[in-house]
Amino acid sequence: MSFELVNIMAEFTKVCSINDVKTNSAKRISVNGQELVLFNLNGKFYAIEAACTHAGGPLDEGAIEGNEVECPWHGAKFDITTGKTLSPPASSDVKKYEVKVEGSDVMVKV
Ligand code: FES
Repeated sequence: MSFELVNIMAEFTKVCSINDVKTNSAKRISVNGQELVLFNLNGKFYAIEAACTHAGGPLDEGAIEGNEVECPWHGAKFDITTGKTLSPPASSDVKKYEVKVEGSDVMVKV
C-alpha cells in the first residue's frame, strides 16, 4: 500500500482576512516555508506559486488582466485559476493551491 505523504500532511491554514486583498489584486504570502500569491478575482480567491517558472520573477507584482497574471520580468502569462502557463518565455505551469473562505478568513491548503 502506498500513500501520498504530501496530501496526508497538507492542511488548510488561515493566511489573511478577505478584506486584506482588494478586488482584482494580489498579495504575497508565506505559508509553511512556501511563497504563494493570493489573488482576489471579483471576490473569488485563488492561490498559486509566487515565483515564475521562467526565472523566478515575482508574480505578486505582475499585471492582472481577467484571469491572467503577467510576470513583471519577461512577460510570461499564467492562468490565475489553474496555474497553467499561457505564453512564453515560461514553459511550465506554476503550482496551484486550494483556497477556501470561512467567515472572513481566507485559508490555503499547503
Ligand atoms: S521570470 Fe517570469 S517571464 Fe522571465
